Amino acid sequence: MIAPVASPRASYAITLPVPDDFELWRDHARNLVQCGVPPEQVTWSEAGTTGDLFAREEFDLPAPGAGAPWVRASRAFIELAQSAILHSDPHRLALLYRLLWRSQGNSRSIDDRADPDVKRAEDLARAVRRDIHKMRAFVRFRSVEDEDGSERFVAWFEPEHHILRASAGFFVRRFTQMRWSILTPRGSMHWDGEVLSQGPPAQRSDAPAGDPAEELWRKYYASIFNPARLKVGAMLKEMPRKYWKNMPEAALIPGLVAGSQAREIAMVEAGTMEFGERPKTLATIGEAIRACRRCPIGLLDNQAVMGEGLKQAELMVVGEQPGDQEDLAGRPFVGPAGRVLDAHLERAGIDRQQVYLTNAVKHFKYVPRGKRRLHQSPTAKEIDICRWWFEGERAIVKPKLILALGASAARGVLGKTVSISKARGVAHPLDDGSELWVTAHPSYLLRLKDEAKEQQERLFQADLAAVAERLSELAE
Ligand code: URA
Repeated sequence: MIAPVASPRASYAITLPVPDDFELWRDHARNLVQCGVPPEQVTWSEAGTTGDLFAREEFDLPAPGAGAPWVRASRAFIELAQSAILHSDPHRLALLYRLLWRSQGNSRSIDDRADPDVKRAEDLARAVRRDIHKMRAFVRFRSVEDEDGSERFVAWFEPEHHILRASAGFFVRRFTQMRWSILTPRGSMHWDGEVLSQGPPAQRSDAPAGDPAEELWRKYYASIFNPARLKVGAMLKEMPRKYWKNMPEAALIPGLVAGSQAREIAMVEAGTMEFGERPKTLATIGEAIRACRRCPIGLLDNQAVMGEGLKQAELMVVGEQPGDQEDLAGRPFVGPAGRVLDAHLERAGIDRQQVYLTNAVKHFKYVPRGKRRLHQSPTAKEIDICRWWFEGERAIVKPKLILALGASAARGVLGKTVSISKARGVAHPLDDGSELWVTAHPSYLLRLKDEAKEQQERLFQADLAAVAERLSELAE
């Protein structure tokens, strides 16, 4: 909405109906610049706030003429503005317009960190990023029964800024399989497994207070709480008390802190990290890995990928970690490496439907490069931490044979590093009477060319054929 204001010089009052609507702000700002309206002649507000007292009837800004100048906005400015606009400061809209206006005369003005407007915009953007981080880390879902009897997960959160819509994609990716709602005083978001929709603001009393999902979180938190790493100051900084009331595990914190010294001594004496009780079903492992943050990979923007396949499979095939496509789909081996694996399994006469497929590490580790996410190998430590989950799956599926694809997978099974070229082609007996077979990772085959590729494909095929033969022997 744009209205001219009675004043010696024409001025305009602009109201954004939705406070985080960057596109609308950008369209108005572009028009104003093209019409040569300086910042002091514009009053910006958002619906629900007072706006300009002198604003009169609504008027459209005159359309910029044919000779209107191009509006210049650097990528750095757009990125800054996209974050800063989510801040709750009512002056941010005017601030961003001032910056845009000034950058028309001097495109480098946005780089001047000493400039109070630039500094303020950067502070706003930083506060927004922090709020988004907090939301990702501290949203806690409670299970409720929907009207149709199905399960829905509902969370209550109080963001400081207008970050709900900007954060929704993260929750969709991470909790794609769940039906969930996030309720906040600024609005609500609902995901039904396929469609994301927006709803009105909510109150804390609209969200359920507690249920078994809470119990799960508490148990999970108690199991990952590592007294040796306890730094109360840092913990409070990362997990401000404001959020504690929404977090079931926060009720445990005082007790855990108090008991931490004794637990630390016990841990050091035992020479182990405490892992709590091992989940007893594949479904509970699936739930627990979704929340796993024992290593930094779980903090990336990704989702846990659980193993899948026949629950009592004779053969368990283990990869390194989900790749980009597996992360998006939430399923193992559905990308290029999976297709290579499928083709070779078929040639060896092994039916994928009869196999349990999983990974040594449950989250996708990557570095962002523009729009792409480049695969990073997990460290030995990260594989060892994730072994807890892999061993849980193994204890439930009880395969007779395990085929490890590549060195990371072999480490996930054995807890130590082996050389693929030395270990492949023979059975390695495991403590529970099953056998480990080791081969290369299919993505290695994808990276090779010409003769080297053909040679490695032959070796891979021979390894799979040997596993197929061993499976038939065991079946006799
Ligand atoms: N590579 C793996 O190791 N696992 C997958 O699930 C996909 C690619």
